[in-house]
Amino acid sequence: MAGAYDNRDGKIWMDGKLVDWRDANVHILTHGLHYASSVFEGERCYSGKIFKGHEHSLRLIESARLLDMQSPYSAEEIDAAKEEVLKANGFTDAYVRAVMWRGSGEDMGVSAARNPVRMAVAAWEWGSYYGDAKWQGAKLDIAKWKRPSPETIPTAAKAAGLYMICTMSKHAAEAKGCSDALFMDWEGYVAEATGANVFFIKDGEVHTPLADRFLNGITRQTIVQMLKDKGVTVHERRIKPEELDGFQECFLTGTAAEVTPVGQIGDWHFQVGPMTRDIAADYEKLVRS
Ligand SMILES: Cc1ncc(COP(=O)(O)O)c(C=O)c1O
Repeated sequence: MAGAYDNRDGKIWMDGKLVDWRDANVHILTHGLHYASSVFEGERCYSGKIFKGHEHSLRLIESARLLDMQSPYSAEEIDAAKEEVLKANGFTDAYVRAVMWRGSGEDMGVSAARNPVRMAVAAWEWGSYYGDAKWQGAKLDIAKWKRPSPETIPTAAKAAGLYMICTMSKHAAEAKGCSDALFMDWEGYVAEATGANVFFIKDGEVHTPLADRFLNGITRQTIVQMLKDKGVTVHERRIKPEELDGFQECFLTGTAAEVTPVGQIGDWHFQVGPMTRDIAADYEKLVRS
């Protein structure tokens, strides 16, 4: 039954065992809460099968490694934990959230190598991330913050610290009636949205920012491969914001977002066009196959 996320019925997997949903708590002196030593995954289970679940488990371990945390679990053990949670809650279609963080322990300063690395998996039923915007074409604000340089933070990790400016930018976007915000990177090139990658279409060809400086989404990689397999030319390259003038269609990709058409970014408008609809339909078919 839905409600506040800390007050629901069900089971959560925590440090190797299932606990009651309301008992899945951490101490206030948890290192991850103070210093963002936390990484996570967002996954979707379709008709009883997590789409690319094993790849998500591997990415979780890699994100942890990039933050100097050794995962206490193998990818296979993480896969099993996710299955256990879905089964315990009776879900076949759900969003799955795995999170790994540095807990409380001997250390409560920046350095915390002696503190244990902990992990939890929760799942819940979750519909379309952008609600109605999904089919009308989402309206995006332009974030005032920039995606940071890989020299300043491990940008390949799906790490909590990278989401601070995402939350702030999404709040600002929603206050203006937008569903999300598009980030430029620190050099001024188009990067990604707050929780999804971005694609553009022009004259039957697809353009997407080169993902060497922000999260190279598992959905993004899936879509690029799907398009290439269909013989569509995909340009992964640096994209300047002024180029948005010339693109006809635009869409976002992500586990939560799936394939979401974009109708507007700032003052730029896009049609919810046939190629985007085709790609969204193909993706929908693939995740349920
Ligand atoms: C910042 C950001 N970029 C991109 C993505 C897309 O990643 P994926 O397709 O692996 O879900 C996400 C979603 O997790 C995200 O949070």
